[in-house]
Amino acid sequence: MERLSSPAELEKARKSIVSKRDAKKPCITVCSGTGCHAFGCEKVSTAFQNEIKRLGLEEKVDVRTTGCHGFCERGPLVVIRPRDIFYQRVSADDAAEIISETVLKNNVIDRLLYADPNTGKKIVHEHEVPFYAGQKRLVFGNNGYIDPSSIEDYLAVGGYAALGKVLSGIKPEAVIEEIKKSGLRGRGGGGFPTGIKWESCRNAPSPDGVRYIICNADEGDPGAYMDRSLLEGNPHSVLEGMLIGAYAIGGHEGYVYVRHEYPLAVKNVRLAIKQAEEYGLLGKNILGSGFDFSIRINRGGGAFICGESSALMASLEGKVGEPRAKYIHTVEKGLWEKPTTLNNVETWANVPLIINHGADWYTKTGTANSKGTKIFSLVGKVNNTGLVEVPMGITLKEIIYDIGGGIPGGKKFKAVQTGGPSGGVIPDSLINLPVDFDELTKSGSMMGSGGMIVMDEDNCMVDIAKYFIGFLEGESCGKCVPCREGLKRMREILDGISEGRGKEGDIDLLERLSTTLTDGALCALGSTAPNPVLSTIRYFRDEYEAHIKEKRCPAGVCKELITYQIIKEKCPGCGLCIKSCPAEAITSGGKKQPVILDQEKCIKCGACYDVCKLGAVKVS
Ligand SMILES: Cc1cc2nc3c(=O)[nH]c(=O)nc-3n(C[C@H](O)[C@H](O)[C@H](O)COP(=O)(O)O)c2cc1C
Ligand code: SF4
Ligand code: SF4
Ligand code: FES
Repeated sequence: MERLSSPAELEKARKSIVSKRDAKKPCITVCSGTGCHAFGCEKVSTAFQNEIKRLGLEEKVDVRTTGCHGFCERGPLVVIRPRDIFYQRVSADDAAEIISETVLKNNVIDRLLYADPNTGKKIVHEHEVPFYAGQKRLVFGNNGYIDPSSIEDYLAVGGYAALGKVLSGIKPEAVIEEIKKSGLRGRGGGGFPTGIKWESCRNAPSPDGVRYIICNADEGDPGAYMDRSLLEGNPHSVLEGMLIGAYAIGGHEGYVYVRHEYPLAVKNVRLAIKQAEEYGLLGKNILGSGFDFSIRINRGGGAFICGESSALMASLEGKVGEPRAKYIHTVEKGLWEKPTTLNNVETWANVPLIINHGADWYTKTGTANSKGTKIFSLVGKVNNTGLVEVPMGITLKEIIYDIGGGIPGGKKFKAVQTGGPSGGVIPDSLINLPVDFDELTKSGSMMGSGGMIVMDEDNCMVDIAKYFIGFLEGESCGKCVPCREGLKRMREILDGISEGRGKEGDIDLLERLSTTLTDGALCALGSTAPNPVLSTIRYFRDEYEAHIKEKRCPAGVCKELITYQIIKEKCPGCGLCIKSCPAEAITSGGKKQPVILDQEKCIKCGACYDVCKLGAVKVS
């Protein structure tokens, strides 16, 4: 491919690519995101390719490996386009049948269809699967359609048109105005208005004119993987956003700081950079406009704190990844003391959409102060887990019940934890809460980068707080005392409460320590760390009190406070629990007699409780 030397040439190249494609030609898309890789998608796509070759159908049927569709738990996913037939848990052995039945004869294979867990109804089309039907996939939508290793695929769906538009004569200040008008707020945690950040960076003095652009792809929140899926599945959309941002702030060098544990994302971004350079979309004199911009990849050091803006910049400079006080903002003095604009992966991927469709279009989605969509990582005690992109303002109930399919096993919804490890829990009484930056903060939680962990009646709120505080304690960089010591003390108090050593006054002490952290910590890791504790105390104080005063864990989770017992009347002595007990704590009580559980030997693993279908094991 020759370098494109103008926006007009870009449009010509796009038309040429599209003209060679037949929109009606069957295309077997095989998801090749990390989740589907874990389920063996490579073998599936190879099986399709081999079968098509064997049948001589190369000209009639396409096979395309795509990015993550979000519904990873059902992988490997295969969607036959353009009919949109959705097959899940596909294996290599299914390939020949899918081609002979579905591609060639238009017959649907019933066993590969998704069945609604609540109604049992089989669903044929991807867009009708409840997990997808309630979503609004503006940023994530192309993931399931394009091959991330093909720049032609990205161009065919309108890729780099926003860059072409900007370089056709829109002034940098006007680009910033459009982003400001769109109301776009950062998707990486703080929700800071993106346009204002860009404006401050553009206006910050830089004697040698150097300004940097950074894409934050460190994504350290446990269970979150939306940034990974975007980078893996649609890397050019992120690069295009960065290019537009660089043009707007007057920057010529950019970095993608990507989590070390994301090899596929690194591979796909590296390839995307190379392709964009070959096309003249990155490098010198982009599209003949005189604008230069290059992007390098930096792999993260594996520490959660390196996702924090100033720690990330220190790490990029080769220093220890520790935050610094930000009385001087990074937009003024960031990377190597130069004005720097740092945005999250998802934030960057929103930018081409806004430029292409306009701020007025963008602001039609969302709430008063939170515009557009947000991608959440929906996990935990919910039937459908995965990545969901929803309009801001959607209620928690819609996400958990309509998209997520509700709570498995008919259990009761108890709470949802949002915002990553420093987020808070939101109880069932607030299930109708509209999800946006401000409402989540008001409820004592936060948007964070988009983690959403659903909990049912079997989750103990003291245990939850203990888990997150333990995580943050381990990830604290240790630079400042309130965070380093405060988190340790908080975890010790929570350990004590969950182990039956809780004392009168512990809740007060936790609250006081929380204030010290919020007021005194240097960075947001420390200042927001009390959220899991404060929100669980706010909504589930009775659970804390049961642990402290009655030495009882109402959810039956805290090992030191519970015992497993056999309900004799319910136990016919089937012996299933005997086989499952790793401590040999259960023995036969004789033929058709209840089993006997030895409390001395029991390690409280809960295996007998889980395995007994007759409800003959109780936790008390
Ligand atoms: C401890 C800590 C970890 C963070 N990790 C990330 C991260 O992995 N990815 C991210 O985009 N932002 C992360 N942030 C937020 C960044 O500091 C920064 O606000 C964000 O990247 C700015 O981009 P945005 O305006 O597009 O959201 C983290 C913040 C803290 C305090
Ligand atoms: S608040 Fe914690 S993570 Fe942040 S600088 Fe201080 S010690 Fe480090
Ligand atoms: S809780 Fe675990 S260790 Fe205890 S009796 Fe049941 S299976 Fe055995
Ligand atoms: S990796 Fe295939 S759906 Fe997520």
